[in-house]
Amino acid sequence: MNPHQNPLPLSTVVAVVGAGAMGAGIAQVAAAAGHRVRLLDSRPGAAEQAVAAIQAQFAKLADKGRLTPEAAQAAGARLLPAASSADLADAGLVIEAIVEHLEVKRGLLRELEAICGPDCILASNTSSISITAIAAGLQRPQRLVGMHFFNPAPLMALVEIVSGLATDPCLAAMLHATAAAWGKTPVHARSTPGFIVNRVARPFYAEGLRLLQEGAADCATLDALMREAGGFRMGPFELMDLIGHDVNFAVTRSVWSAFFHDQRFLPSLVQQELVDAGFLGRKSGRGFYDHAAGAAQPAPATAAPVAVPADLAVCGDSPLAQALAARLQAAGIAFERRESFDGRVAQADAAVLFQTDGRSATQRAAESGIADLALIDLALDYARAPRLAVAVARQASDGARDAALGLLQAAGYAVSLLRDVPGLAVMRTVAMLANEAADAVNQGVCDPAGADAAMRLGVNYPRGPLAWADAVGVGRIHAVLQHLGAFYGEDRYRVSPLIRQAVHAGSTLHD
Ligand code: NAI
Repeated sequence: MNPHQNPLPLSTVVAVVGAGAMGAGIAQVAAAAGHRVRLLDSRPGAAEQAVAAIQAQFAKLADKGRLTPEAAQAAGARLLPAASSADLADAGLVIEAIVEHLEVKRGLLRELEAICGPDCILASNTSSISITAIAAGLQRPQRLVGMHFFNPAPLMALVEIVSGLATDPCLAAMLHATAAAWGKTPVHARSTPGFIVNRVARPFYAEGLRLLQEGAADCATLDALMREAGGFRMGPFELMDLIGHDVNFAVTRSVWSAFFHDQRFLPSLVQQELVDAGFLGRKSGRGFYDHAAGAAQPAPATAAPVAVPADLAVCGDSPLAQALAARLQAAGIAFERRESFDGRVAQADAAVLFQTDGRSATQRAAESGIADLALIDLALDYARAPRLAVAVARQASDGARDAALGLLQAAGYAVSLLRDVPGLAVMRTVAMLANEAADAVNQGVCDPAGADAAMRLGVNYPRGPLAWADAVGVGRIHAVLQHLGAFYGEDRYRVSPLIRQAVHAGSTLHD
């Protein structure tokens, strides 16, 4: 791949086919960047309507002072509705954003390569169809590149530049440079199921669904943990309700079947039930939550306040221990500082607290001989997180459980006590996101920086999964995955070779 490829010159005419949500957004981006854009849709009047809507959008931006009135006027004037595919003959780049159907896309592109000539670059905004497969029906398969924008295209920075088996690397590099010139953050991806974002994001939903299925906590509690401890904008259940269960389930199924039913991507019966019931989320008024007007929203489960334990100690200097010490100190609570000889992060009366390593608290209590054992979940930033999840061993006394809760409450956390599931909520999800990103890198789909950028910009994760794994420690992520695999006995949790190799080498996932 030539990283120094120039973008397409602004004199290049860009044709966008499909004037729906995505096509209109892409046309807006290309016109704003300075290209003349021709917009075509098979539905009569749709292209004209979209052009008028984009021009109104430019006028609005001018009203807000984000564009000069002259620039808004000029950008609007660069957009032209096309009456038929023959009107696209002068295009140097065609981006199709029509219906998500292989044969229809192929048919359109085959027709356009005859009309637009041999120098035209063809791009597809498909989110789930193989670029290799679309290209297979073309006269010049090397000229097709995936250009996967995210919704809404004018606002979302990420563009996945997807290369199929036949794609000319120079054209992929040119569209990468072009997307960057349009103000986007492009990331190269090889055409594999789900590309980067729709593949690496699967565990965010899947682990949430498993935690719910296993009774770790209810939706509101798990959502609150992913937001308040994990730093995600939305928890998995509220996000699935927003996306729509029919859509989210279809994407999961398509990635799962495209990977020949790899257990990693197994769809959930919990979501199948919602789809069967027609509980599709916000759009149908009911999903995991009740979206009827005025319906009360359930509150997350938060442990009732307990007394501050008499005897408190913070052990070692892990980020969690440091945050606990700082927060207790800020709250004016007396505690001792001790060495950590076995990884413990704190003691509260008889209770011993550890960060989760993917074993259940009950298993770890049995293996360590510490019956009064409690586990703390991962947080994006322990110093600032308002909420943490905790699990307590079955062997622990009620007094030890309360002492563990009391310590964390004294440090200012709202504490959600989970059923004793291995890996708790945030750690388990982040470990699986990192595992999937690591596999994508290991299989040459993208590079580590690309995987992280894609997840930050495509789905607004607070940190790229690989950078997050590096911050937690690759050794800890490896342990979590291995323990999950041993606990469940499922191939789903197998550790990515990239993570294994990083552990052997003592390196990070970006080395
Ligand atoms: P949409 O249904 O809003 O728009 C599709 C448009 O294409 C419609 O206006 C339709 O009349 C037109 N169309 C259909 N077949 C045509 C043909 N043969 N020739 C010309 N026009 C045709 O769909 P949307 O959401 O804009 O998606 C379009 C593409 O973008 C799909 O491939 C989809 O997978 C992909 N995509 C969608 C995203 C989303 O969040 N909606 C995100 C990223 C990609």
